[in-house]
Amino acid sequence: MNKLNMIYEGKAKQLYTVEENDKIIIHYKDDATAFNGVKKAQINHKGELNNAISTIIFNHLHKNNIPTHYIETLNDRDQLCHKVSIIPLEVIVRNIIAGSMAKRLDIKEGTVAPKPIYELCFKNDELGDPLINEDHALALNVVSESDLKEIKDLTLKINTLLIDLFKNIDITLVDFKIEFGRKLDGTIVLADEISPDTCRLWDTLTQKKLDKDRFRRDLGNVEDAYQEILARLSK
Ligand code: TMP
Repeated sequence: MNKLNMIYEGKAKQLYTVEENDKIIIHYKDDATAFNGVKKAQINHKGELNNAISTIIFNHLHKNNIPTHYIETLNDRDQLCHKVSIIPLEVIVRNIIAGSMAKRLDIKEGTVAPKPIYELCFKNDELGDPLINEDHALALNVVSESDLKEIKDLTLKINTLLIDLFKNIDITLVDFKIEFGRKLDGTIVLADEISPDTCRLWDTLTQKKLDKDRFRRDLGNVEDAYQEILARLSK
């Protein structure tokens, strides 16, 4: 399957058309950004690492009956996926409080949430991806009530599956962000990627951060952290 035209370039990935109109190729880049693109760098091999990590995770979710856009991994940076139109919501689950929630509500990072915390942000760079609730999402006209229910049900199932997957390799799934899309036939599927760019992953024993916070917070050894996640997931 060959890449034809680049139709979109995001911060970490490019999308290409292929001969079949209902599929696309997602190409993973080494670019990393933080704070809505203000901080930028290249992280060696990040594209390959996230492609490999996201492949393992999407395969695991698919095996557990989560509908996804993923079809197959073509090479070290490219995935063939169903074409979707992305629903402009960043869907976040927090099992442990960290990052923006710790800051916004002045809760100590590392505090265990009493139950998984479900958040929505409006995916809009100009507005800085503001935190919204389900009623705001309806007012934005991007989803229906039944879409919202489907998205929340799928997200909480994904959380349970990912907590277990990472628990088995001594990683604590602190939080993550996912995105959903609509296939040409209208079905809602998990889209985008799941990787250390989009999750907070802490070593359960040492609490060492093994995710993009190493880049956001200048902690160093970003590539090593991603390699560690891939090595453990590959066992
Ligand atoms: P936050 O604590 O900064 O709101 O991040 C919550 C989760 O979402 C965390 O796992 C990192 C992920 N995330 C993204 O994938 N993309 C983003 O642009 C941001 C801000 C966070």
